[in-house]
Amino acid sequence: MMVIHQVDELRTYLKKERFSAAKEGRELSVGFVPTMGFLHDGHASLLKQAREHNDLVVLSIFVNPIQFGPGEDLDRYPRDEERDLALAKREGVDVVFLPSVQEMYPNPTKTKIVVSELTSGLCGASRPGHFDGVTTVVGKLLHMINPTRTYFGLKDAQQVAVIRQMVDDLNFDVEIIPCPIIRESDGLALSSRNVYLGAEEREQALILSKSLREAEARIRSDRSVSLSEIRAKITENINYKPLAEIDYVDILQFPALTPVDESVPATQIKGEIIIALAVKFGKTRLIDNILLSPEGVVIHV
Ligand code: PAF
Repeated sequence: MMVIHQVDELRTYLKKERFSAAKEGRELSVGFVPTMGFLHDGHASLLKQAREHNDLVVLSIFVNPIQFGPGEDLDRYPRDEERDLALAKREGVDVVFLPSVQEMYPNPTKTKIVVSELTSGLCGASRPGHFDGVTTVVGKLLHMINPTRTYFGLKDAQQVAVIRQMVDDLNFDVEIIPCPIIRESDGLALSSRNVYLGAEEREQALILSKSLREAEARIRSDRSVSLSEIRAKITENINYKPLAEIDYVDILQFPALTPVDESVPATQIKGEIIIALAVKFGKTRLIDNILLSPEGVVIHV
């Protein structure tokens, strides 16, 4: 496994690999998993898929400063390079791209990639500018690596929708592969930020996945329940936990992220919907979601 810190070195390496494959008469498929490090089993699941479907796997580890707002956790974002590299090796990664901030942003950047509309609700509303930072860095990484496929976890479902839109609008030649949320055995969605949680916060945070599971079961069993009732019940469950502070509980069409008519029975809604939550426990903001088909069948949890 190679660890590369410089953009030029990464490009040269990939060029050589593509050239060698071409000499043998084959096209090199490259799977790319972008991360901010502090890797967990959720990242491992992305790497496993990338390994399975591509000749070469590139993992990037970069805590991207431009996607953090003032007062957010950029300075305390968890890092553990040694453990990350061990996990990458275990998952059969070929190249870890580990650039410095100076390498990614040598000059104050005057160019940004901005996806409109899809970024205005959910996390975009409470984290202004966040998605501009995400699309800008993902755009840069895609240009540097030029992968065949790139893998994203559906815990950040809005991020998946936004990146897909960017890739379509700007004709990036890459396939986006959304991957299911990976959870602890008790239901907590895996996140690098879970390490911030105290014991009591972690216990109470289980209400997120529990409420989503309950919502799904209710939609399946009660054909007349409306999405407004579903939303009210989730909100009530979460508010019952003293340490929880709701940022949003939202139900939208997915991946368009447009409003749904919450007054009609849920089973009458056409297309996929997302029930998405962002809730703070102390200083830690957690997100979770569930994607459902109109009949209430789970697509990804
Ligand atoms: O999901 C993340 O970890 C980040 O938003 C990403 C996609 C690596 C961009 O910095």
